[in-house]
Amino acid sequence: MKRVITSGRGFASMRICVIGAGYVGLATAVMFGKLGHRVACADVDNHRVREVNAGRAPFYEPPLEKELGRLVRSGALTASKNVIRSVADSKCTFICVQTPSLASGRIDVRPLKAACRTVAKALSRSEGYKLVAIRSTVIPSTTDTIVRQILEEGSGKSAGKDFGLCANPEFLQEGSALRDSMEPSRIVIGASDKRASDTLMKLYAPIKADRVRTDLRTAEMIKYASNAFLATKITYANEMANLCRRLGIDSEEVLGATGKDPRIGPLFLRPGLGFGGSCLPKDVKALRHMSRALGYPARLLSAVLDINDLQPLEALLLLNDALGSIKGKRIAVLGLSFKGGVDDVRETRAVILITELLAGGADVIAFDPMAMSSFIEIMPTISFASSIDEALTDSDACVIQADWAEFRKLGRKEFCRMRQPIVVDGRRCLDPERVEKDGARYFGIGYGHASEPDESLGGCKS
Ligand code: NAD
Ligand code: UGA
Repeated sequence: MKRVITSGRGFASMRICVIGAGYVGLATAVMFGKLGHRVACADVDNHRVREVNAGRAPFYEPPLEKELGRLVRSGALTASKNVIRSVADSKCTFICVQTPSLASGRIDVRPLKAACRTVAKALSRSEGYKLVAIRSTVIPSTTDTIVRQILEEGSGKSAGKDFGLCANPEFLQEGSALRDSMEPSRIVIGASDKRASDTLMKLYAPIKADRVRTDLRTAEMIKYASNAFLATKITYANEMANLCRRLGIDSEEVLGATGKDPRIGPLFLRPGLGFGGSCLPKDVKALRHMSRALGYPARLLSAVLDINDLQPLEALLLLNDALGSIKGKRIAVLGLSFKGGVDDVRETRAVILITELLAGGADVIAFDPMAMSSFIEIMPTISFASSIDEALTDSDACVIQADWAEFRKLGRKEFCRMRQPIVVDGRRCLDPERVEKDGARYFGIGYGHASEPDESLGGCKS
């Protein structure tokens, strides 16, 4: 009799393969591991495979790493470079490889195609029904055309008959990757056929979330529509904030009250230096590229991207207001990752900001709690400080580029190290009143009030 392994939670434990040990791959692997399945993570990158097998995440994501370590130690999760074997030994395979931007804005599907060719080889050698789910973000029709063709031609088998094909996008945010995977806002299942869709529904059964069951192309489009909306909402907040500052109004009050309308909502209305990261910029570019190829100009998406690239310049305007000119001034840039709490520097606004500061003749000293080693690879010739204190010492101003928790604690002790205690809050993460009480001048994105340090409380020299 065939032995059925149960997870202890009343459902059969399955062997699952996850291709790509990045944010999405590892969050998916750990999620299924926590649900009681046996997970094989397959990656072409030796270093990542070694790290995962040592129970370490190859990026800064502490809660994910903790659970990863537990699953690796218990033997429920393993990593391997042998992608074919990992797929062949599994019932379901989730493809989570990167889909970066090409110069044109189109996504680079080469890693996806390579992964599909390997999966096809494994399918050709396997018996029985298997499921292949695309979790990477791909342009509508990719799964149904490129992926299907490679899998069918390479395996000699048919999608919908011998294997199931799904588009199952992920909506996690870096910094809360595991929580977002375990408690998603919705689970989108696009499928080639009912059996494939039912198989994924069963796998996700223990996760509480609304399900959207649909076709492959619709599932792919839902992911792009979501990221395009988030990018647009942030851009709207930035535009309102820029306007508020020029009107002498604090955008925090305006956007706070605006977000109370349930039709608008308070999230993603925080103004800043623009959206960065591995996905929002690339996904908006990819959507615009696809749109143009269809003969539709997608003017809103173009405006969002244009405004976003100009947004870091608001920090320069604030610095010029504060200093007269940045030429020859020592400017500390705090935060190099694309947002606080992560070590990912993909599309970080710090690059635009620092390039403009250098072009204006400033002397830049940069610091980040976790992202310094990856940022050095992008901008190797600038000066780096090994601590906040070192970055601030003798600087004429500091710009907060990423909202790390450490920067929220900046106060009198730190400001007193500066030649001129001037804070440009590029992420609206400090309280202007507190900064002024601590003896510094506050300039923030969307902060329209003139700032003076509260001398009555005693400046740095007292
Ligand atoms: P990543 O770059 O962190 O990881 C991708 C991994 O895939 C790498 O380790 C790489 O070595 C591996 N890989 C590439 N080709 C391979 C192959 N042929 N076989 C085996 N492994 C291979 O990527 P990520 O940030 O996890 O993003 C993956 C996808 O998910 C992208 O399409 C992205 O748009 C989407 N996404 C990302 C996030 C996020 O927050 N990072 C959130 C939702 C969706
Ligand atoms: C984003 C989306 O939020 C996820 O839902 C999506 O799954 C993911 O992209 C993806 O497809 O990869 P993430 O890249 O982790 O997640 O980053 P966000 O938290 O969305 O932040 C993106 C950028 O927008 C950051 O630079 C951040 O500082 C900025 N931002 C965010 C603002 O300027 N204001 C806000 O109110 C929110």
